[in-house]
Amino acid sequence: MNGLIDIAELSIEELDSLMDVAEDIIANPDKYAESCKGKKLATLFFEPSTRTRLSFEAAMYELGGNVIGFSDGTNSSAVKGESVADTARVVGCYADIIAMRHFIEGAPFVADRNCVAPVINAGDGGHNHPTQTLADLLTIRREKGRFEGLTVGFCGDLKYGRTVHSLCTALARYKNVKFVFISPDELRVPSYLIYEVIEKNGIEYVECSSLDEAMPRLDILYMTRVQGERFEDKAEYERLKDSYILTVDKLKNAKSDMIILHPLPRVNEISVEVDYDSRACYFKQVLNGKYMRMALILKLLEGAAGHGISADAVRPEPLVDDAKGKFVCHNPKCITHTEQELQQAFRLLDAEKEILRCKYCEARAK
Ligand code: NCD
Repeated sequence: MNGLIDIAELSIEELDSLMDVAEDIIANPDKYAESCKGKKLATLFFEPSTRTRLSFEAAMYELGGNVIGFSDGTNSSAVKGESVADTARVVGCYADIIAMRHFIEGAPFVADRNCVAPVINAGDGGHNHPTQTLADLLTIRREKGRFEGLTVGFCGDLKYGRTVHSLCTALARYKNVKFVFISPDELRVPSYLIYEVIEKNGIEYVECSSLDEAMPRLDILYMTRVQGERFEDKAEYERLKDSYILTVDKLKNAKSDMIILHPLPRVNEISVEVDYDSRACYFKQVLNGKYMRMALILKLLEGAAGHGISADAVRPEPLVDDAKGKFVCHNPKCITHTEQELQQAFRLLDAEKEILRCKYCEARAK
């Protein structure tokens, strides 16, 4: 693994050090103005994006580097049927580092395995979004000064909200963190996160549907948009899309030092009047995200030093398959269904309960 696919790949110490670098960039931008001179970032975005793509691009420019890429996969050879693995190999001949967003879960993982340049997951379907987590973490550290002991409420679409999945995974490693999951029944946080991340780390958590009831306990309220693009049943989206709307009135029961986060874009789940409340930190997250992406690019390029650009095909090591070929992934959005002859591979997470999860998208084997 060269790049960053899942936030769990970074230890607490590595996260701390990325945040320290980001702080140093904020304090001394000139020091970094030529750090990536002569280097190229490729942004390969197969799904819409404003913040993530532009902040990667701004990050690379502020490091003195250059950017190539596309913001719409329908302009790429993917429409001709090119595989993610081949696209990554090709772009690895032109760029030193790649940021990829894809609607297929596991696509950046496949790209990273097949490419000489490090690949950063800039969001894969409803699965993960590790660099939004970097933005979230720096914002929490700057605003709250700590992670330990915080009660974090996640509200909205916890099923498809990839930023929620990555942030939970990161925060679950800090001491005495508590989670409150606020969602309609249909949009509850995926069971793999509950069992394999939250319970495994001994995190105290509750699942509920009332934001009003949860509000007074929270140190952080992480609002999310209902992810219309991920629903198979559009009528269900229409029914659920206005489940939670944060207003000034609802904040009356909140702690005076609670912070409000949102990965953005916002639709209507936070009224604009809330923007004027000093607890609203979602636009600070945007700025922090750029600095964290700068820190990440520096770290990954340092690790890739000497790797060199090469036109050789990367032949990834076969993945260890704990299921020994007995299963195929049942998640229709998993890359194992769209990529030619991609090896199916599962990770055994609980030998007693025989829990196996797909190595690409984390869907449970059935
Ligand atoms: C999020 C995403 O793309 O997952 N946006 C972002 O990258 N900041 C959240 C969303 O789209 O709702």
